[in-house]
Amino acid sequence: GAAENPAVRRLADWDADRLRRLADDHGTPLYVIDLDRVRQNAARLEAAFPDADRRYAVKAHSGNAVLETIRETELDAECASAGEVKRALDAGFSGAEIQYTAVNPPSEDLDFVVDAWQEEPEITITAGAEDTVDRLRERGYDGRLCIRVNPGVGAGHHEKVRVGADAKFGVPYDRAEEIVADAADDFEVVGIHAHAGSGISGDDLQNHRELVRRMGDLARAVIADGTEIEFVDVGGGFGVPYREDEPPLDLDAVAAATREALGEVDAQLAVEPGRYLVADAGVLLTRINTVKNAPETTLVGVDAGMTTLLRPAMYDAYHALRSLAPDAPDRTVEPATVTGPICESSDVFCEDRPLPAPARDDLLAIGNAGAYGYEMASTYNTRPRPAEVALSGDDSRLARRRETLSDLTALEAR
Ligand code: LLP
Repeated sequence: GAAENPAVRRLADWDADRLRRLADDHGTPLYVIDLDRVRQNAARLEAAFPDADRRYAVKAHSGNAVLETIRETELDAECASAGEVKRALDAGFSGAEIQYTAVNPPSEDLDFVVDAWQEEPEITITAGAEDTVDRLRERGYDGRLCIRVNPGVGAGHHEKVRVGADAKFGVPYDRAEEIVADAADDFEVVGIHAHAGSGISGDDLQNHRELVRRMGDLARAVIADGTEIEFVDVGGGFGVPYREDEPPLDLDAVAAATREALGEVDAQLAVEPGRYLVADAGVLLTRINTVKNAPETTLVGVDAGMTTLLRPAMYDAYHALRSLAPDAPDRTVEPATVTGPICESSDVFCEDRPLPAPARDDLLAIGNAGAYGYEMASTYNTRPRPAEVALSGDDSRLARRRETLSDLTALEAR
């Protein structure tokens, strides 16, 4: 029921004792991903979209522990690269459960996926350009094909994640019908696809509705032309609340709006969220190593940086922050600016955030780190990527070991 599966898990809901123990056992910075919460998110997606094709956008969190959990919930895997297809295959997804969405695909990616198709003939490739369709023809591919369309409407939490009319994704909407008809001569065209952007909130629903309406129109036109598609994929992008006081997205309302905007179509609706499934299943643990006073704020230095969690630096993204110091409730709250160890002035998690008076060695938790967290980590400043622990019930296990300095230099020719 709703009580056991709330629409959102806030940072305050995490068990502080357990997080402190994990940090002691595994060191920091440390990603923690709760597979039970991933299952709950998948269950809420299923409840809202019971008869849609449900797919997980692997790019949000491609770790094997998450992929195996997602596979058990019977979602498919939407993959953005050969690497993600390999991860999906390794996690046990069958070809029929894999959609590969090619975006300006490097030749190696197409070669890899066409090879995989020899073994797994049910794999679906989504092409977003006529060049991609031609390059599949050249490789002798005549399997399941989906055409990605640029519907000309964008939505999302930041300019950098909105997909507008001039974006690189998809074929022009007004030529899509013709491109589908042409492809249907050589491939098994099984669907059409569009994705408006990431982090859709209640306010953005108008754009989502418009995208779905256009896709419904296109689907009816394509079917009237004689192409029997199986699905209309309207992308992902369901937002999650990053601020503590932000209400959760009403997924049932999104589903109702989607159905209504799509209208009657002789094909299955498909959705492919990433963030919604994993964001609030993850936290990032980091330890304070430096505290100093600046003229207008307290500067707090922590061992995670923009290389660990890029979102604040890249999108000015807000992530909730919680002190896990055992006596935090007794400390006075004061504004703090939390920064990492990277030599970039954009290496800042938050400015002037109210925080229980910070002290060296305090542990902090950063919320909603399950989506686009580890996934976007880099090794800039020759800084190893963190470890990740997966929780399931009372169990915790190391899901990805911490990178070592030798891992980082292993690729160098000497
Ligand atoms: N489908 C396609 C084709 C996509 O490109 C994406 C995300 C998704 C589905 C899943 O979107 P989601 O449900 O996770 O919002 N790094 C950014 C997000 C970039 C998303 C790119 N595409 C961030 O951290 O906010």
